[in-house]
Amino acid sequence: MKKLVVANWKMHDSPEEALWLARAIKRKVGKSGAEVVVCAPSPLTSLLSPIFAGSSVKVGAQDVSVYESGAHTGEVPARLLKASGVTYVIVGHSERRAMGESDEAIAEKMARVSDVKLIPILCVGEETRDGGGNHFGVIERQLRAGLAKVGKKAPPFVVAYEPVWAIGKKADDAMNHMELQETVIFIRKIIVSLFGRSPGLAAPVLYGGSVEETNVGSLMKEGGMQGFLVGHASLNLKAFVA
Ligand code: PGA
Repeated sequence: MKKLVVANWKMHDSPEEALWLARAIKRKVGKSGAEVVVCAPSPLTSLLSPIFAGSSVKVGAQDVSVYESGAHTGEVPARLLKASGVTYVIVGHSERRAMGESDEAIAEKMARVSDVKLIPILCVGEETRDGGGNHFGVIERQLRAGLAKVGKKAPPFVVAYEPVWAIGKKADDAMNHMELQETVIFIRKIIVSLFGRSPGLAAPVLYGGSVEETNVGSLMKEGGMQGFLVGHASLNLKAFVA
């Protein structure tokens, strides 16, 4: 399976810098063996798609509406994301959950994205971790709820495991390999129990949370990851390319 590396640019607000970074990413990793995705703020997606054309870099969005269409001011429907060149859509990021996004809304968004044949990246992850193992309950609830409406015959989807406590920090604060491996096996078991063995094994499981140049290699090797969702380090060309 090709490794999947997803940049989450979050609310990056400089169009000039964004276009410069996109061109540089295409030059540096546009022909790499990995699948690289840049999830940009919605107004940038249609500007990025011609830049990435002819390379293996794909455009992603960071959110989508629960609605298909209609009178919903400010909402961006999945169909319009697709028309602007988007291939992947992040759904249920913890920063959106913190703004009040419910499991039910996330399930609807997953369905809207799959309906138009885009690939949703479902984010799950606990806010805190203690010795009692309660985090497994949180992850299981988020997974089962988030995948509830994509249909029995699983469409392509990606799961990004992002423990909230590890987001936006330094490499040393990222999760340790043993715990990561254990959590990824747990996630994999739930996906297999929902969709069966072969679709369950086909869905890439990514890790996100303070992935940087210095820890990415060991997280990949020892954590058993299929790829990463990279936040702050994705805005630094050298770090992201590494
Ligand atoms: P980070 O963010 O790499 O800055 O921790 C990851 C994310 O929020 O997706």
